[in-house]
Amino acid sequence: MQVDPAYFTWWQRSDLGYQQGELNFAGSAVRELIAEHGTPTFVYSKQRVTDNIQRLKSALDDTALVGRYKILFAMKANRFAPLLQFLARQGMVGIDACSPNEVAHALACGFEPDQISFTAGSLSQHDVSRLDEFEGLFMNCDSLYSIETWGRLKPGSEIGIRVNPGLGVSRACNDRLQYAGTVTTKFGIYKEQFVEALALANRYQLTVSKIHFHTGCGYLTSELNQLDQVISECLWFVENCPDVSRVNVGGGLGVPHSAGENPLDLGKWAAVLAKHFASRDILIEMEPGEYIVKDSGLLLLSKTYLEKKRNTLFLGVDAGFNIAPEPAYYNLPFQPVSLIDPQGKAAPKLKKVTVVGNINEALDVWYEDALLPNMQQETHLTLINAGGYSSSMASNHCMRGEFTEILLD
Ligand SMILES: Cc1ncc(COP(=O)(O)O)c(C=O)c1O
Repeated sequence: MQVDPAYFTWWQRSDLGYQQGELNFAGSAVRELIAEHGTPTFVYSKQRVTDNIQRLKSALDDTALVGRYKILFAMKANRFAPLLQFLARQGMVGIDACSPNEVAHALACGFEPDQISFTAGSLSQHDVSRLDEFEGLFMNCDSLYSIETWGRLKPGSEIGIRVNPGLGVSRACNDRLQYAGTVTTKFGIYKEQFVEALALANRYQLTVSKIHFHTGCGYLTSELNQLDQVISECLWFVENCPDVSRVNVGGGLGVPHSAGENPLDLGKWAAVLAKHFASRDILIEMEPGEYIVKDSGLLLLSKTYLEKKRNTLFLGVDAGFNIAPEPAYYNLPFQPVSLIDPQGKAAPKLKKVTVVGNINEALDVWYEDALLPNMQQETHLTLINAGGYSSSMASNHCMRGEFTEILLD
């Protein structure tokens, strides 16, 4: 079988790859991690998370934005308490929260209210009264309804307004990951509503000190022109809002998911931000989730069976899409990676297999036609990029919601 070697190497890096033919992650042999913790298990690397944040900071520090930005971790990507506690102790990021329970969880993990930015939609009266209890929490209102509701509750306070520029940026224009664009979405206040939004804020003496936007997820370098245009559109809101001292540019920074995709060029990304904001007296906030945690995690699995049906060789594993829904929901491939080096001398011959889970749903397919060393003798498998939007989105579908999470140094 002719295979591009990049298929087996694109995801490897100094802390993730093969040593003496065996898969290692964050200084541990994956086989030993499985022996110790069982499967299905998510393992996250503290060091990789730190490196990802540090890389973002270094890119921003190399621009005129140095000292004028704040990174908030979008905890919807991963809320594993030991990870949040680690981030709180480390002090490099604040938190982007999107529900009252997320705020309470961030506080319990060691963050202070003034380190948390809150952006959410469709808030109930119960939500709002819970949020009211978090003194110092910063609220970004995403609709006329939420400005009115917050204004009644906290007249005279400071708020942000989440805007919708009618243009979005996402991974390869994947419309499931796009929050703004030609399709009208629920996210944020549109240009034509903005005058009414400011009038409402004025009615309750609210100071609108922040413009917030998040228009899509997973963008890589080739989408940076689109980001540039999104920011240009959003500057209209900034310029029409006299008290703005902060702009939150959202998250959306992506990581590669397959061979042929390169990591986001952070130098170019930071240059786009600097182009628009360097000459403005404004603090820039950003709230990445995926970029900080996704490639810091692996999902460790056990093989259940290997069986040919018609022309397809199926490899079954002991967990399904319900504990890591991104491949099924968004068509994002989580490449299966064997514990044994497929290019090593001891590796069995390569086979094409379709990796499937244990949920009774047609969409429970982890990966079609994965290339793996013959799995006849192998007992385990891993999936990469499982550090974000996996455990945090897990459900108990088919009562198969059980898994272990481990934070590695
Ligand atoms: C308002 C908001 N901010 C930040 C994020 C984080 O996005 P990402 O993980 O793509 O960086 C999201 C994701 O849905 C979001 O809705």
